[in-house]
Amino acid sequence: MLPTPLHLIDGRRTPAADGRTFPVVNPADGQTISEVPLGGAAEARAAIEGAASAFPGWRDLPAHERARPLRALAEAMVRDQQRLAHLMTLEQGKPLAEARGEILYAASFLEWSAEEARRICGQVIPASSVEKRIVVLRQPVGVCLAITPWNFPAAMITRKVGPALACGCTMIVKPAEQTPLSALAIGELAMQVGIPQGVLNIITGDAPQIAAACFADPRVRKVTFTGSTDVGRVLVRQAADNLQRLTLELGGHAPFIVFEDADIDAALAGVMASKFRNSGQTCICANRLLVHRSIIEPFTARLAEHMRALKVGAGLEPGVTVGPLIDDAAVEKVESHVADAVERGAVVRVGGSRAMGTAMRCFLPTLLERCTPEMRCWCEETFGPVLPVASFETEDQAVAMANDTPYGLAAYFYTRDASRLMRVAERLEFGVIGANDALPSTAQAPFGGMKQSGWGREGGAFAIDAYTEIKYMSWRL
Ligand code: SIN
Repeated sequence: MLPTPLHLIDGRRTPAADGRTFPVVNPADGQTISEVPLGGAAEARAAIEGAASAFPGWRDLPAHERARPLRALAEAMVRDQQRLAHLMTLEQGKPLAEARGEILYAASFLEWSAEEARRICGQVIPASSVEKRIVVLRQPVGVCLAITPWNFPAAMITRKVGPALACGCTMIVKPAEQTPLSALAIGELAMQVGIPQGVLNIITGDAPQIAAACFADPRVRKVTFTGSTDVGRVLVRQAADNLQRLTLELGGHAPFIVFEDADIDAALAGVMASKFRNSGQTCICANRLLVHRSIIEPFTARLAEHMRALKVGAGLEPGVTVGPLIDDAAVEKVESHVADAVERGAVVRVGGSRAMGTAMRCFLPTLLERCTPEMRCWCEETFGPVLPVASFETEDQAVAMANDTPYGLAAYFYTRDASRLMRVAERLEFGVIGANDALPSTAQAPFGGMKQSGWGREGGAFAIDAYTEIKYMSWRL
C-alpha cells in the first residue's frame, strides 16, 4: 500500500479532523492502493478560512508574481511526469501512455494560465460626456470551489486551478473519491514550488458535506464542477441561496458524422482516437457514429478490424490501449446499454461483453450496428468502449440526428467539402466542434457545452471571464 497522503488546508498537510480515512481502489484488480483522509464539513470550513484569509494578499500581487508559482507547478509536473502518470493509472485505470499524456495536458493549463495572468486587462470606454470617463476593471471573483471528476484526475484540476489562480482567486479543490491521489500529489508539488499558504487547498472525502459547507458560506463566490448533468442540477439548486456563480461542464453525447466525401482513413483514425480515449470514459468522446449510407458497409468493416486490434487489459501492462472501467457500476451500466440495444434490434459486430481473463472491469471494444434513437446507448451517455452506428442519407438528416439530444458538449464530422464544413459547424448545437479533428481539446480553447451539457467555458482567455468580476467606474473629471 502507498502511504496515506494528507489534505492540503491553509498551507498545512492535515489528516481528517476525526482521523477517518477511506480506501482508494485500483480498478484493474480491485486492490486497495492507499487510504486517504475522509474530510467533510469541518475540513471544508477550515479550507474556506484558509482560502478567504489568503485571498487579499494573492489578489494584490503583481500578475507576474502570481504567474511564477503557476509556471513552476507546470514545470514540476512535467519533471515528475512518470511518477504522476503511474499513480494516475493505479487509481484511475487508464493506459500508462494516456496517463503520461494527461500529465502534459494538465501542465499545459497551468503554463497557459501563467502566461495569461499578465494579460487580464480592463478597458476605458468613451463616455457620453466630455467630463466623464468609463473605466472597466476586471477583478478576481474571490474564493472558489472546484469539484473535479475521476476521468481526468489531473487535467480537470489544472483546467480550473490555472485560470482561477492566475486571476487572483484562491481555491478549494474537492477531487472525485475514486481518484484523490493524483489531486493530493499535485497539492504536494504546489507546496514545494511555493504556492502561498491558503491559495490552493485540497480536501478529499464526503462530496455532499464538503459542497454543502461551501455553498452555505457566502465567502465562497464561485463553484466550478465537471461531472454528471444530474449532479449539476443539484449544484444549481444549492447555489440558489447565496447566488454563487457556477461553471458546469456536464455530460455529453457526441455524434461523430462521416460524410460520403470524407477522407476515410482520417475519419477511421478519428473515430478510434475519440471513442477509445480513456476507454470511452470521456465527456467529449464519440457516442454515436453516423455514416453516410453509401459508405457504411466498407467503413464499418474497416472499423471492426481496427477495433479487434485494440489490446484490452490493466493500464500498467505494456501495449494496453483499452484499460478497465472505473468501477463495477460502470461495467454494469455498459452491459445494460448493450443488452438494451440488442433487445431492440441492434447487431453486435465486435465485442459485446466483459473481457474474460484480463483485468477486472474491462469491457471489450464493442461495435453495435443498426442502432435506432430509442436505444439507451443512442440517447444516454454510456461512458464505456461501446460505439453504436446508424446511417443517414442527406446532410440535413445527419445534422438533425446529431442535434437530437438534450446534450450539447461536443460533435465531430468529417468532410472534404469546405462549404459543407462551415455549414454543418454552424448548425451543430454543441460547444466543441471537431471538424476533421477528433482531438480538439487544448489549453487555449474555450471548452464547455450548451443545453444540458452545462454553463460557461473553461480554457483559454474565456476562462478568465469565469474567474473575474467586471466592475465599471464612471469617473467625472
Ligand atoms: C472531459 O471528459 O470532459 C474532458 C475531456 C478533455 O478535456 O478533452
